[in-house]
Amino acid sequence: MNRTPPPPLLKPVIGLLTLAIFMIDAFTMLDIAIAVLYVVVVLASVHAWPRYLLRITALCVVLTVAAYLLSSWGDLADASAGRCLVSLSAIGITGYLAYAGHRANERLWQKEESLRESRLQLAHASRVTTLGELAASIAHEVNQPLAAISANGAAALRWLNRPQPELEEVRAAIGRVLSDTERASDVIKRIRALARKSDPQQQALDLNDIAKASAALVQRELAAHRVRLQLGLAPQLPQVEGDSVQLQQVVINLLMNGMQAMDAQGGGELGLRTFVQDGAVHLAVSDSGPGIAPEHSGKLFDAFFSTRADGMGMGLAICRSIVESHGGRIAAVPKEGRGACLQCSFPLHAAEAA
Ligand SMILES: Nc1ncnc2c1ncn2[C@@H]1O[C@H](COP(=O)(O)OP(=O)(O)OP(=O)(O)O)[C@@H](O)[C@H]1O
Ligand SMILES: [Mg+2]
Repeated sequence: MNRTPPPPLLKPVIGLLTLAIFMIDAFTMLDIAIAVLYVVVVLASVHAWPRYLLRITALCVVLTVAAYLLSSWGDLADASAGRCLVSLSAIGITGYLAYAGHRANERLWQKEESLRESRLQLAHASRVTTLGELAASIAHEVNQPLAAISANGAAALRWLNRPQPELEEVRAAIGRVLSDTERASDVIKRIRALARKSDPQQQALDLNDIAKASAALVQRELAAHRVRLQLGLAPQLPQVEGDSVQLQQVVINLLMNGMQAMDAQGGGELGLRTFVQDGAVHLAVSDSGPGIAPEHSGKLFDAFFSTRADGMGMGLAICRSIVESHGGRIAAVPKEGRGACLQCSFPLHAAEAA
C-alpha cells in the first residue's frame, strides 16, 4: 500500500507562506494576531513533512516570538503581547493535535500493512495446501510427458542404431521429445508460480487465460472425481487489472469447491464461463451438485465456515478478500436447474474502460 505523496507545489507554498506571515508580523503594525495563521503552516505540514511536525511547530513558535520582539522592541508589555500569546496558544494546540492525529494515522497504517501481510501469507498458505491436495494428479500430469519423452528417446536411438539410420524418423521423434518437454515444463512453471511467495503484481490480464491456466491445473483431478469441465469463454474479453497468481487461486478454489460438492453424487458437470455485462468482466463457476442450502447462503464467505468434514472453511473467505482487493465482487447467484453458481465480477482495466 502506498501513501499518497504531497502535491508537488505544497512545500514551496508552505515556505513562502511562512516567510510572508513572518514579514507581515514583524514589520507591519497590523492590529490583529497575524501569527495565528501559522496554524495553516502546521496543518499543511501534516502532508508535506509529517515526520518534522513538532520541529515545524517549534519553528512557528520561535518565529512568532521573534516577530513580537522585533515589532515591539522597547515596549514589550503592549497589546501585541496579548496577541502573541493568543497566537502561541493556537500554534501549540494545533501542533499537538496535528501530531497526535498523525501518530494515530501512522499506527492505523501499520496495522493495515500487517493485516495485508497476514492476508497474503494466509492466501499463500492456502495455495500451498491446495497444491498439496492436487499433488497426486499434478505428478501424473508431469509423468505423462516424461514417459512420452523416454519412449520417443528410445525410439530415436533404435532408428539411429539401424544399419541404415532412419533420419526422418529420428527427426520426428526428437520433435515429439521437444514438445513433451515443453508440456512438462509448462506444468512445472505453473505450479512454481502458485507455490512462490511473492508480492502481488498488478498487470493487465485476460481472464480467459487465467481460466484456462487454472483449468489445466485441476483438469486431471476433476477427471479422477468423474467431473466434466466445460469452458464457455467469451471471445475478445476486455482485460482486467490484477495479479494472475491470486486470480488463478480464486478460480481453482471455485472449481475445487464445485468438484467437492458433487463428490457425494459421484461426479457431475462443472461450467467455467467468462462474459461481459454492465461494463464489468464476469467469471462464473457452476456445478450440478446439491446447491447451496438457504441457511448457509449468508455464511458462505465467512472464515472457517465449512460443511465438509475435512474442509477448513477458508477457500471462499480468501476468494472474497482477493476479489475485493481487485475492486471486484463475488457472490453465489441463482442458477437454473440443480447446483450452485459462484460468480465474480471485475472492473475493466483502466485502458479498456477509457
Ligand atoms: N459449489 C458449492 N456447492 C455447494 N456448497 C458449496 C459450494 N461451494 C462452497 N460451498 C459451501 O461453502 C462452504 C465454504 O467453502 P470454502 O471453500 O470456504 O471452505 P471449504 O471448501 O469447506 O474448505 P477449504 O478451506 O478447504 O476450501 C463449503 O464447506 C460448502 O458448504
Ligand atoms: Mg473450498
